[in-house]
Amino acid sequence: MNPTIARALGAAARTLGNAGVEDPRRDAQVLIGHALGVDRAVVVGHPERAMSDHEVRAFEALVAGRSRRIPVAVLVGSREFWSLSFRVTADTLVPRPDSETVVSAVLDRVDRRLVRRVLDLGTGTGCLLLALLRELPEAFGVGVDRSPAAAAVAALNATNLGLAGRARFVVGDWHSGLRGPFDVVVANPPYIATVAIADLVPDVARHEPRIALDGGPDGLGAYRAILPGLGRLLAPSGLAVLEVGQGQASAVAALAGADLSLVGGDRDLAGMQRCIVLKPVESLKKGLGKVAEVH
Ligand SMILES: C[S@@+](CC[C@H](N)C(=O)[O-])C[C@H]1O[C@@H](n2cnc3c(N)ncnc32)[C@H](O)[C@@H]1O
Repeated sequence: MNPTIARALGAAARTLGNAGVEDPRRDAQVLIGHALGVDRAVVVGHPERAMSDHEVRAFEALVAGRSRRIPVAVLVGSREFWSLSFRVTADTLVPRPDSETVVSAVLDRVDRRLVRRVLDLGTGTGCLLLALLRELPEAFGVGVDRSPAAAAVAALNATNLGLAGRARFVVGDWHSGLRGPFDVVVANPPYIATVAIADLVPDVARHEPRIALDGGPDGLGAYRAILPGLGRLLAPSGLAVLEVGQGQASAVAALAGADLSLVGGDRDLAGMQRCIVLKPVESLKKGLGKVAEVH
């Protein structure tokens, strides 16, 4: 006889707990909801419901994947970011709530009707760019990723969110070959020091794309590639917001060229400085008002 939701959940939570999953019951609820095609509230509200053969098999496959520490977002194929649903695959970083700090850092500093061109370096799922385009009605965006598979996922997300007409995704090496000016540049580059990757939880270390994590020997390699030349891409009144890892803000700001000036940075919900904000030095000297009003 096939198990009820309650029984299947109990067994799965034990299996996931034994595999070292941090919150086994919550993950089991999400996965069973995916297998049944219902949301978590239905799972919680109907523990007595019997599962079909097909549902049992689908759930077992998901639990086996989670036991190998494949992220839930990859198993179910999506993750919410900025209250939007993004397709996620093994080729993309799972969007993190902390990265919403980058989006709000931009929105807090611009006149939303004046932003016309946005650039997202290392776009992954496209979450930063597409969240911004949702909020900036006149803007067109370019997302760059070195991974063709990631760029394809970002393009699919743009279509799914009805933003394909305002976004273009290209495969490339940061901003090489791109011409400005952009009113806003955002980037969440890989910033984990190579030796530290093995110490991350297995979900990340084993299953998120290495190219999305590895920041080289000191974690700052991508910033060394991005920051020189970033100033030439910005409009005179533009701004750049870069996500940074724990304790990296000063070191990253020090890599900015002489044409850029650090004007701020925002903390995430945990109180950690999560991003830095840079503006062209010339605009500060001239006191340009405009697209990006710094405060
Ligand atoms: C930390 S992930 C960020 C993804 C997404 N922006 C987000 O916030 O979830 C970094 C991204 O940079 C991309 N990347 C790594 N090296 C790159 C390079 N040289 N040029 C462009 N993109 C690169 C990776 O493929 C990955 O998608």
